[in-house]
Amino acid sequence: MTSSPLAPARGSVRFENITKSYAAKGAATGVLALDDVSLDLPPGKITGVIGRSGAGKSTLLRTVNLLERPSSGRILLDGQDIAAVTGNQLREVRRRIGMIFQHFSLMSSKTVWENVRLPLRMAGVPDAEADQRVAELLELVGLDHRADAYPAQLSGGQKQRVGIARALVQDPEILLCDEATSALDPETTRSILELLQRINRERGVTILLITHEMGVIQEICDLVAVIDGGKVVEHGPVWQVFSSPEHPTTLSLLESFRRSSLPEITRALSGVAPAGAPDKRETQLVLRFDGTRPVDVSALVNQLQDQTGTPVRMLASSITPVQGHPQGYVVVSLGGGLGHDSLIERARSIASEVEILQTV
Ligand SMILES: Nc1ncnc2c1ncn2[C@@H]1O[C@H](COP(=O)(O)OP(=O)(O)OP(=O)(O)O)[C@@H](O)[C@H]1O
Ligand SMILES: [Mg+2]
Repeated sequence: MTSSPLAPARGSVRFENITKSYAAKGAATGVLALDDVSLDLPPGKITGVIGRSGAGKSTLLRTVNLLERPSSGRILLDGQDIAAVTGNQLREVRRRIGMIFQHFSLMSSKTVWENVRLPLRMAGVPDAEADQRVAELLELVGLDHRADAYPAQLSGGQKQRVGIARALVQDPEILLCDEATSALDPETTRSILELLQRINRERGVTILLITHEMGVIQEICDLVAVIDGGKVVEHGPVWQVFSSPEHPTTLSLLESFRRSSLPEITRALSGVAPAGAPDKRETQLVLRFDGTRPVDVSALVNQLQDQTGTPVRMLASSITPVQGHPQGYVVVSLGGGLGHDSLIERARSIASEVEILQTV
């Protein structure tokens, strides 16, 4: 069979009207963990899933490799419905999907080498080929020098690297990560995220990742889906969802993350004296950028001076590119006699949102 140009690319997943209910002991009705979920995971992209505890995130992720069977609906892996496969077909589906866990799930009585090699042994891969693949994977994750160590002799970050090597040893199209960095310190988290990103870029592996850390989503995901009460309530490119969240759950999950830089700026600036004579009043404005336009922080002062006809000083800026879309705040101080309303109106042509911080 030749592949048609319309065939879905390797590593694509489509959830179609997926529901999952768990039987609850003694209760007439079960727990509805997924409620009519339809979602596409584009091939070669990293999709993040966020939501409150109990929202259904792990259930959704575990339906991809059928650790949980959906109660109804279809799961298309590269266009083929896998929701009901069993036996050899199920084993083949699982070979195409790797998974890493929060607590690594390594076998403590086996060495790093043996842990990574285990899936190949179970799949009956010939020794020479298996050894070559294990060596290649340990090199990829930077642990070739620890092949003979036991898990107890490794740091958390190293254990997760072993988990990643094991998950990739059968060359999967998809990698599932359920809170894979939650047990790690921030620096180790960063190095694991870099590794996941490299695996995604160099091997084209589609990644589905659950995290409660919004920074993880911002740093490596292309897309984000928000789950609430078993439903996908918001979904889109990270830069869009993060800059203009719409659903109340998204707003509340992002609240402290989005605003975290502003209170610091405000605190640092409270009582900052105007530059000129003490009788001159200055207005401090916060210009917010939502990623829909380019930001040239160094040109901004001149632009604003032109727009408002008043002297402008840059006080602080915190702009982060999210997938190349600059987002964050610039705080400026403006002198001169323009009233607040006209200052805001004119600054609006430059920034996505403008608010007065204080007049000093
Ligand atoms: N094996 C199970 N049996 C019965 N109910 C379950 C089972 N697994 C999950 N649930 C229930 O299904 C719902 C969704 O659970 P799930 O583990 O998918 O949530 P989650 O979003 O991953 O939460 P967390 O952030 O706490 O990990 C919850 O109400 C949970 O209690
Ligand atoms: Mg979970």
